[in-house]
Amino acid sequence: MTKLGEMLKETTAFLKEKGVGEVDFGLILGSGLGELADEVEDAIAIPFSEVPHFAVSTVVGHAGKLVYGTLSGKKVLAMQGRFHYYEGHSMQKVTYPVRLMAAMGAHSMVVTNAAGGVNETFTPGNLMLITDHINFTGDNPLIGENDEAMGPRFPDMSHAYTPAYFEIAKKVAKEQNVPLQEGVYMGYSGPTYETPAEIRMSRVMGADAVGMSTVSEVIVAAHSGLKVLGISCITNLAAGMQSSLNHAEVVETTERVKAQFKELIKATLAE
Ligand code: 6GU
Repeated sequence: MTKLGEMLKETTAFLKEKGVGEVDFGLILGSGLGELADEVEDAIAIPFSEVPHFAVSTVVGHAGKLVYGTLSGKKVLAMQGRFHYYEGHSMQKVTYPVRLMAAMGAHSMVVTNAAGGVNETFTPGNLMLITDHINFTGDNPLIGENDEAMGPRFPDMSHAYTPAYFEIAKKVAKEQNVPLQEGVYMGYSGPTYETPAEIRMSRVMGADAVGMSTVSEVIVAAHSGLKVLGISCITNLAAGMQSSLNHAEVVETTERVKAQFKELIKATLAE
């Protein structure tokens, strides 16, 4: 078995020991959106620091717990917080939780984030269905020897975000009267926000939103054969589109729309 295979065996054995059973959906809850994990029923919560082979998260606003249980009748394994590349973790460390979800038997992953709006029709507080991404991080979690037991050398990214899930999310948003934008998420490494020139470039390249997460996780999901639903919370407009940017605004906006966000995800999971 490969090193990665051995690590996953240890982590899955640890989780099973803690009472974690079958998993339908893996959830990654981004900045300020982690409260959804508090609604998981019959929850087993394990701090990241106790999970074998997990990195240690350092960002304020990320609780850093793995939460297992039932949400909308589905068995979920939720990441309350995530690991970011800008923290200095390797792409493999950042995406290890996605490997774990697949190893625990999940068929799908719901990935969420706070993002800056690049599309001029967006306003802060909008939710955006991610239909595709641009990997602009300058790295890729699959660089290195391919573990054939995990997935193919050259994964197809044509449908990395699952089209069947777009329809469900859009229907649910309509029923709930939640305005749901859709578009392309462009992933930067961070930790700086972009310059106005970078944002003009991003727009020309086809981005609707920019952020510092998600793309590496979705690459590994595609490699693992996981279906993906991605939702961004547009917390602010990107550089050059508003006077300045700060993390406080990101936190304020997620605070304002998190109820809508939670209802959208829960009802989409139910369907
Ligand atoms: Cl404007 N850029 C990036 N990279 N991430 C963000 C953001 C902007 N706003 C929230 N998250």
